[in-house]
Amino acid sequence: MSLNDKLAAALASRDRRAIRRRLPDPAADDGLVDFSTNDYLALSRSPALRARFLRQLAAAPDVLGSGGSRLLVNGRAHAALEARLAAFFRAPAALLFNSGFDANAGLFACVPQPGDALLFDEHIHASVHDGVRASRVDPAARVAFAHNSVPGLRKALGELVAARPALRTGASGVFVAVETLYSMDGTLAPLPEIVDAIDELLPAGNGHLIVDEAHATGIYGPQGRGLVAAYGLEDRVFARLHTFGKALAATGAVLLVTPLVRDYLLNYARPLIYTTALGHANVVAAECSFDALEDGTAQQLATRLLELSRYFLAALRSALATHRVPPALLSLPFHLALPSLALPPSSSSFSSSLALPSSATPIVPVLTPHPRALAAHLRARGLNARAITWPTVPKGADRVRVCLRADHSRADVERLVRAMVEWAQSWPAVEVGAVVQAKL
Ligand SMILES: Cc1ncc(COP(=O)(O)O)c(C=O)c1O
Repeated sequence: MSLNDKLAAALASRDRRAIRRRLPDPAADDGLVDFSTNDYLALSRSPALRARFLRQLAAAPDVLGSGGSRLLVNGRAHAALEARLAAFFRAPAALLFNSGFDANAGLFACVPQPGDALLFDEHIHASVHDGVRASRVDPAARVAFAHNSVPGLRKALGELVAARPALRTGASGVFVAVETLYSMDGTLAPLPEIVDAIDELLPAGNGHLIVDEAHATGIYGPQGRGLVAAYGLEDRVFARLHTFGKALAATGAVLLVTPLVRDYLLNYARPLIYTTALGHANVVAAECSFDALEDGTAQQLATRLLELSRYFLAALRSALATHRVPPALLSLPFHLALPSLALPPSSSSFSSSLALPSSATPIVPVLTPHPRALAAHLRARGLNARAITWPTVPKGADRVRVCLRADHSRADVERLVRAMVEWAQSWPAVEVGAVVQAKL
């Protein structure tokens, strides 16, 4: 078989299993209400941010390109942004990367040492997996724990510690990787419990928590500084990742670490060393987005976004119940199905410290075994929410993921709820019965 035949056969196999990825048709989304992007605060459409960016760009000494690797070229603008971000996030040091993917892939590949262990949430992002695979950690000491499960984390940690004396003495350490807002599930990590479990089971201080705030940046915490800041845990995490490409409507990412770790990354993180640094225009764009965080604009938008999320969830729950939609055909996941379950375990301290009414999230997965059919139905009604299938989510957990934006109206989400219920009702009872049977 020629290489071309092999590649074509792999794609054809994906076609048959209805999991072939394709780029969206660039024109097809025109005019649709967007429920698919990570533009949670709608900053990419903000006239004020656009005007500020163009002004700052016109005034910036350097605009085009960056000239080469951070290690080779004048990085004055980059260094200034890093200093600003370290202060803003109350971190000892900051290091820019071209993307969150590069940051995770670089950090996990080089910082954990031989003899260390790596524990990660089973739903952790692909970029962490890539870093873990490239790391020098013994494959037997790379362990996934059940999503957001503190007992699962404790059990996995306990087993590692029992089996590896160097973890008890502190000669080696355990890196624990979590996200704060999980992009496919809309779940929030129980961070305080995670931090406590690590400290308790690794009393020698050799537990290192790495927190990916990609989807939480701009939305949670004072001035959108993230969930770590919302809980005041800045001093208890080893590293934090904030990305600029989602709610901040820019490009790039920053790792918040100690100066020693920063220095180590500068020497060993290949996606940082062997790449051209962020272009100057990107640095200007990130500065402008952080202006919007610092001046309180983002927090106002986030409050609106989370209110809308609560409204959407309440409307969808009620419509699914009123119209007796079979859960095997269309349902909310367990953590969102009942109002009281939407909160993470430590939500009371979280809401009071944040002055936010609750811990709603802008990501709402709607589970269905027919996500493509549902997405097509929505699209035909002017609504763009994407089907997400295996391998991006576990088998049997296919869904249409709804991403809310601060500039959606209540009428927009009411339309979405109506269209979803209408789709469920369009299924002949006999086929719904088949779905239910298949699930049993
Ligand atoms: C949790 C998480 N971490 C990291 C990344 C990568 O960030 P970036 O888009 O900046 O590469 C993403 C985005 O896809 C993400 O969802």
